[in-house]
Formats: sequence, structure tokens, C-alpha cells
Amino acid sequence: MIRMVKGFRDILPEDVGLWQHVEKTARELFENFGFSEIRLPVLERTELFARGIGADTDIVEKEMYTFTDRGGDLLTLRPEATAGVVRAYIEHGFPANRPVQKLYTLGPMFRRERPQRGRFRQFSQINAEMLGVADPLADANVLLLLLTFLSRVGVTDATAHVNSLGCPDCRPAYKEKLSAFIRDRAGELCENCTRRAGTNPLRVLDCKSDNCARAVTDAPSITDHLCPACREHFDAVLSAIGTLGQKVVLDPRLVRGLDYYTRTTFEVRTNALGAQNAIAGGGRYDGLVELLGGPTTPGIGFAIGQDRLIEILAAQDKDYSLKPDVYLAWLGEKAKEKIFGWQVRLAMDGIRAETDLEGRSLKAHMKRAGKLGVRHVVVLGEEELARDEVLVRDMESSRQESLPVSEFLGYIHRLVGTR
Ligand code: HAM
Repeated sequence: MIRMVKGFRDILPEDVGLWQHVEKTARELFENFGFSEIRLPVLERTELFARGIGADTDIVEKEMYTFTDRGGDLLTLRPEATAGVVRAYIEHGFPANRPVQKLYTLGPMFRRERPQRGRFRQFSQINAEMLGVADPLADANVLLLLLTFLSRVGVTDATAHVNSLGCPDCRPAYKEKLSAFIRDRAGELCENCTRRAGTNPLRVLDCKSDNCARAVTDAPSITDHLCPACREHFDAVLSAIGTLGQKVVLDPRLVRGLDYYTRTTFEVRTNALGAQNAIAGGGRYDGLVELLGGPTTPGIGFAIGQDRLIEILAAQDKDYSLKPDVYLAWLGEKAKEKIFGWQVRLAMDGIRAETDLEGRSLKAHMKRAGKLGVRHVVVLGEEELARDEVLVRDMESSRQESLPVSEFLGYIHRLVGTR
């Protein structure tokens, strides 16, 4: 047997109902917020991610699925969606024609991380990106969209951690200060952090090793080093969120694993997932469009880890399975032919009717209907066929009634209409 690749997985039919519920809720809500769907390739030029995400990030350094194709192009399976959204934004001439874009996209991402609970090598994200708006109300809008979505879909214990990472005016001085602080504690850091202390000292704040966490306990905080413009922006974001009654946790230690962030950054965490506790992350990336070859354009967005979100919702024991509306049970070849026609007819009318074309006995049909959890079963046996009737049985109340065939389709419509 050929098995699937480690870190990849199948989503089976019995689980797909919940995935579809999440995606439907996202589409509806995102569109209410004025976002439009964009669909992007999963394969891009490696350079897009190396430049966009940052060459010395974990993603680019060690997690990308990169290969040279038969034509000699260096390509990568996308590890995230933001760089691709920005590439498309520039490539289709949006900056000149329609610079303000509110876009969302759903789909698989690929990172060769060590697989564990909540961490896969192919995982799905739901992304929203707002381009062309620098106003702090855009940050608040995007964050509120994220939190509204999570609560609408059924997440109850999510906490939004929010920080500002400053801008090219104020971050270098802060980085310098942090670097000096870290240099004094060099002996206490892990190998990775020692290497990155000079180039990317902020990453040290995010290191999961206990020693590194201890070493930076008293490190200077970025929010004490913001320039007046960044300070004002951050205060306006927090005030707009507060006005709408949304609670967030200010977390000056929050840094993100991608280099494009400026100013507002955030991560939504939950206690329900163990170590991989982030179900969503995002922030502002005002330099990214320019970095990827477009004009200076602000941007902000987030990505929700759909696999982690599904794990939380699946544990809530709610039934999202897509049950048929009716089951059509039959006995004898003649009845089977009629049932076959009705099944197609009902499907065309938007009613999910299930039958079993291999059904051997009425008992077997009833067993299958029970297994599928179908409430209404239509029985067409030899007796019913002779009388030109069907029997409709309510599996919940065990009540059943006979109906002339001519009335039965209308009857099913009325039944299912009140589903
Ligand atoms: P990220 O924090 O790298 O941000 O990923 C966002 C979310 O994707 C994470 O919070 C997590 O839920 C999920 N995720 C990441 N890696 C894995 C994995 N290996 N297995 C399962 N889930 C995973 C970004 O990707 C940014 N592009 C977000 C963004 C959009 N920022 C601005 N716009």
C-alpha cells in the first residue's frame, strides 16, 4: 500500500461538514465586511517568499518545499498567502487603478515543520488582507473581523494578543538597544538565538527555549520605544477596538515569525490546543508592496489556521455532518427504478435524498437509514407499488403514514422545508 506523505492528511467525508461550515461562515462574514475572494496559485517563485517573508526567518531558512522544475525555475509551494496576494496586487496593476483592496483567500499552505498536534506540513489558512489603507481604523476593522468570525464560528476562549512593532523610523534604534541587552546575556541563549542576536534580535523574544525566555525577562520593550507617529497610530487602534467593547491583551513581547510586519501585530491564542496555541496571526505590513516591486502601499491582514480552528470546534461535540433529508427504501426491481427517478428529481429540487441501489431487503434499508441518521424514510415495497402509494416513516416518532404517489413529492417538500 502506498501511504500518504508524513505531515499531510486526508479530510474524510464525515469531517468535511465542519470544514464547510467554517468556510461558509467565513465567506459570508468576510463579504459582509466588504472583502472579495481572490484565488491564487499554490506555487510561486521562491524569490517571492525569500524576499517577502525574510531570508533569515525559520520559514525561509528551513521549512519551504522548494524545487527546481524541469524548465530550471526555482519554485516553492507557498508557505503563506500574504506574499502571493501582494504579488497578484502588483501584477494586475491594482496600485494605479484600484489601490484600495479588501481581499480574502482560503486554501492550503506548506511548511516542512516537525509534525505534531496542531502542526501539519500541509495546512489550511483563511486569509484576509486590506491593501491601500493606512488609517488605524483599518487595523481595528481587520482585527474585529477576525474576532467576530472566531466567535461566530463557535470559539469561546480566544485571547487576542496585540503589539506594535514600530516602523523603519523607530525600530532600528530599538533593535540596537535590544541587541546590546542580548549581547550581555549571550552565554545564556540557545544556538539559534546566538546566531540571530545581531541580525534579528526581536526573534529572541519569541524563542520557546526556557533559557532564552529567562534571559530576556527584563529586556527593553518595543512599545516604550515607538516614534510619536507609531505611538499615535497604536493608541488609535486600541481606542477604536475598545470603543466597540472588544477586549485584547497588550503584549509587548509579541513578535511574529515573518519579517514584513510594521506597527500593529496580533496573534489569537487559545488554551484548547496545547503547545500550538495560535489559531490566527497577522498585522500591518506597510513596506511589503514596495519590497516586492510595487509603489509604497500600506497593508494589513491576518491568517487563521483552519486545522487548529477545526480541532477546537470538533471537540465541542456539535454535529456538523451533512445528513440526507430523506432515505428512499425499496423492494423489488420495479420499485428500485421508480426510487432512482425520485432520487434524481429530489436532488434537482435541492433535497438530499439517499438510497442504496444494492439494497437487499427492507430491513437492510432501514438499518442504513438509521446509520445515516436520516429522519424521514420513504418506503416503496411491493404492496405500496400495487396500491400506487408510498409509506413515509418518521424515524424519531416512529409514526408512519401512507400517501398516494401523486402527493408524495409535494409532501416531502413540505416536510423538509420545516427541517
Ligand atoms: P502565521 O502566524 O505564520 O502568519 O500563520 C497563521 C496561522 O496559521 C497560525 O496562527 C496557525 O494557526 C496556522 N499555522 C501556521 N503554521 C501551521 C502548521 N504548520 N500547521 C497548522 N497550522 C499552522 C502568516 O502566515 C501570515 N501570512 C499571516 C498574515 C496575513 N499576516 C498578514 N496577513
